[in-house]
Amino acid sequence: MNLLTAEHDQRFLSATELTGKLIGRTASIGIVGLGYVGLPLTMLLADAGFTMTGFDVDTRKVAALNEGRSYIQRITSEEIAAMVNSGMRATADFSAIREMDAVIICVPTPLNEHREPDLSFIEETARAIAPYLQPGQLIVLESTTYPGTTEEVLIPLLERGSKLNCFRDHSQEELCFHVAYSPEREDPGNDLVARKDVPKVVGAPCTLSQQIASDLYSTIFTRTVKVSSTGAAEMTKLLENIYRCVNIALVNELKLLCQRINLDIWEIIAAAATKPFGFQPFYPGPGLGGHCIPIDPFYLSWKAREVDFSTRFIELAGEINTEMPYRVIDVVTRALNQQHKTVNGSKVLVLGLAYKKDIDDLRESPSLTLIELLRKLGAEVAYNDPYFPEVSQGRHYALNLASVSLDDISSYDCVLIATNHSSYDYAWIVEHAALVVDTRNATAGLARNNVWQA
Ligand SMILES: NC(=O)c1ccc[n+]([C@@H]2O[C@H](COP(=O)([O-])OP(=O)(O)OC[C@H]3O[C@@H](n4cnc5c(N)ncnc54)[C@H](O)[C@@H]3O)[C@@H](O)[C@H]2O)c1
Repeated sequence: MNLLTAEHDQRFLSATELTGKLIGRTASIGIVGLGYVGLPLTMLLADAGFTMTGFDVDTRKVAALNEGRSYIQRITSEEIAAMVNSGMRATADFSAIREMDAVIICVPTPLNEHREPDLSFIEETARAIAPYLQPGQLIVLESTTYPGTTEEVLIPLLERGSKLNCFRDHSQEELCFHVAYSPEREDPGNDLVARKDVPKVVGAPCTLSQQIASDLYSTIFTRTVKVSSTGAAEMTKLLENIYRCVNIALVNELKLLCQRINLDIWEIIAAAATKPFGFQPFYPGPGLGGHCIPIDPFYLSWKAREVDFSTRFIELAGEINTEMPYRVIDVVTRALNQQHKTVNGSKVLVLGLAYKKDIDDLRESPSLTLIELLRKLGAEVAYNDPYFPEVSQGRHYALNLASVSLDDISSYDCVLIATNHSSYDYAWIVEHAALVVDTRNATAGLARNNVWQA
């Protein structure tokens, strides 16, 4: 039953009613932030039968979705059109938050120019939705962030802007909204594990809100993992990404050592990975990329400084990983040198712009750093990437280039494999290029004297 409370002239949904709507898949759910995380999540929930509304400040995305057009490579326009035809709509008008039973926030959490957490997107979202909050609604934050964000930043802004309270044990339900934090664990390009089979971690300020959030996610995930607080859920996500970041730094450092003592790190990792316990393989590369691994650990370092704690593993891993593109350029320099050429004036073709193979995501891609470093040294740089026909300017780069054809690959002094997209024919590349520098072991088994590992 929906009640209008006299005090708030608002719609009140009891926890029992909300749970019923979630389990029965009749709830209206809003997703705020329709990017790489928010859009696939909208599709999953729409597929489960929920009435979906997507909110985004980017009106081009809103228009594209309402017209049935996709803007993410791995999602087809047909899929978007089918979802829109079945009732999903997108909007930049946040007053529609009023009609939602649950709202999930998936906005960006980047670092600012001082490499400190930039929570402005979460804060703007909180301010935008607060005036429309209704008692009984569930608000879930999915954006990756430091432990304490939900309690210290999100909840106070929602409470202030809505004149309602966050529900806690013994609160009066009619005057409260529910809050939870549930980290996104998507791994773009990973087709080995179905999204629904990746357990969903959920933390909340009290057991009732935790249970409601868990009921919501149980409709699309095989398993939810309840933790005792939003802070524990926030920290779980950071532990996962710091684990990756530190282990990648470890193999990157060992790669540099192996190069110096003439061993092949890839052969060694493959051999070590045959151990059936106690070892998980990580692979070296030209540097870290993506919206998560290069950024998230520094959210925790920043938070740790608040309590006079120094996160040394994170800082060291950051140092090593940041150094990797420079080391790749050293190899390019030596490889050209052996052919009596300098980087200055050489034509270099960078293969792959995306931060990892087979995806259309450029964020923090080491390829961008490699291109910048090569240009600074006077190289004439071109790129090829089937996922990016052209690239102009972004937050931290100004490329202004179009992807070139591989037909005249032999005209380049050096071909630098930065991303190992599956669509490349590496045997053909090695056969036709004058010189190849390979940062991804994409040419394994094709050893020729024109290939350098970097
Ligand atoms: N991309 C991934 O693989 C991945 C994986 C795990 C976690 N995450 C985390 O999920 C969060 C979202 O990442 P993403 O990759 O989807 O980002 P994204 O940049 O692809 O999408 C974010 C969307 O939010 C919109 N937005 C920004 N401010 C807004 C506001 N005030 N109101 C409404 N919409 C707003 C943007 O226009 C954009 O469409 C981040 O915290 C990220 O760290 C991402």
